[in-house]
Amino acid sequence: MNLISDRTALIHTENAFKIGPYIREVEESGKTVVRCNIGEPDFPLPAHIRDEVKRQLDLDNVHYTDPQGILPLREAIAEYIGATRKIELNAEQVVLFPGGKPPIGLAQQIYCNPGDEIIYPSPGFPIYESFIRYVGAIPKPLHLREELGFGVRASDLADLITEKTKLIYLNFPSNPTGGVASPEQLTEIAEVIKTKCDKNVRVYSDEIYEKIVFDGEEHVSIASIEGMQERTIIATGASKTYSWTGGRIGWAVFPTIEEAKIFVNMNINYFSCIPPYNQEGARIAITSELSAKSINEMVTAFQERRDMVVTRLNSISGVTCQNPKGAFYVFPNISGIVESLEIEKAFASLPKDIRDKTSPSTLFQMFLLFRHGVATMDRKSFGQIGSEGQHYLRLSIATALDQLQLALDRIETAVDDNDGFNDFIKAGRRLF
Ligand SMILES: Cc1ncc(COP(=O)(O)O)c(C=O)c1O
Repeated sequence: MNLISDRTALIHTENAFKIGPYIREVEESGKTVVRCNIGEPDFPLPAHIRDEVKRQLDLDNVHYTDPQGILPLREAIAEYIGATRKIELNAEQVVLFPGGKPPIGLAQQIYCNPGDEIIYPSPGFPIYESFIRYVGAIPKPLHLREELGFGVRASDLADLITEKTKLIYLNFPSNPTGGVASPEQLTEIAEVIKTKCDKNVRVYSDEIYEKIVFDGEEHVSIASIEGMQERTIIATGASKTYSWTGGRIGWAVFPTIEEAKIFVNMNINYFSCIPPYNQEGARIAITSELSAKSINEMVTAFQERRDMVVTRLNSISGVTCQNPKGAFYVFPNISGIVESLEIEKAFASLPKDIRDKTSPSTLFQMFLLFRHGVATMDRKSFGQIGSEGQHYLRLSIATALDQLQLALDRIETAVDDNDGFNDFIKAGRRLF
């Protein structure tokens, strides 16, 4: 008898959480590591939000509360989403979750039967793909186009839609590419969905980086396009906008109250409710005029870092890097490094059981970490299916400018370190 269910073997993970012990291992060996792996802003929680959370704790606001989320917060979210997306909605369509992540998997449980098809961006946030086989659905990766700034080509989406399509994930600004769909691209995507999908197909629009958009642009949601609100779940939260990943506050707006209530029942089954003191903090975050200043300071810093990092990456032989329009990641194409360090050859020489667990970009990621002290994420951490032959790394720019400079100095050295790379492969440790 097996201890663990077959289904459990089908769920994947988010590697960003798994690389921590490797970083510690390098540091314990006496080297320093520049952390470009982290998906969280390196800014403190703004003081006005922190003060409200403290005040609520002092009021003993620490008990069970509405599993849908406290009404004043849902009202603030409804007003904010309504105004920014130019749509009509009410607080009964809003549900709070412990972060932006839980509704991703819950949506698959709620909307999909075994055999249904789920379309999701690749490269994309790993949790979209991670859940699909676990719920018995079929993964259909929608490959983002580097030449479109990692946008979606509407005809690529059209080609993937069948009568079994049930759920379509979109994520702009995107993790890991920083890509943003232009309003024209969104209109074309919406047109494809309206023409080819049944009205019960849901679009899950993950807008968690909505406030981190560069060059003075504004975030545009697909839900704002005529005929899309009734098909779209708008999901976002407090983690990135307010540099509050540990607050575990996320929310989604559903097309109907009936759907919202089904998610509320899932909340009751899984975690009952989320901490009321943090919900009060989130209400202040959304409604206070002070928040705009904190967000602006953070986005300005990210943009300055992006400009430096993209320029320097593009000056490294073997690297080409798109200019991300949002979020806080850069996603360089490292095909030239794979070629100059002969990484494909090294990969091909490995035993099959190791090849199955690694990839050329993983080998370079591990070499960078263990031999040159830079922590990054490999391509296959952002959707494995169909990622073969794609050579990219994700670097988070949620790290101070001087640390990023140091990371780039180290990458420059690593790129020319053929002997070091060969030695790393020969040693055969930490290849995935
Ligand atoms: C695209 C995307 N969606 C959702 C999340 C989850 O955010 P949270 O930490 O609020 O659960 C992340 C976090 O990295 C993300 O990048």
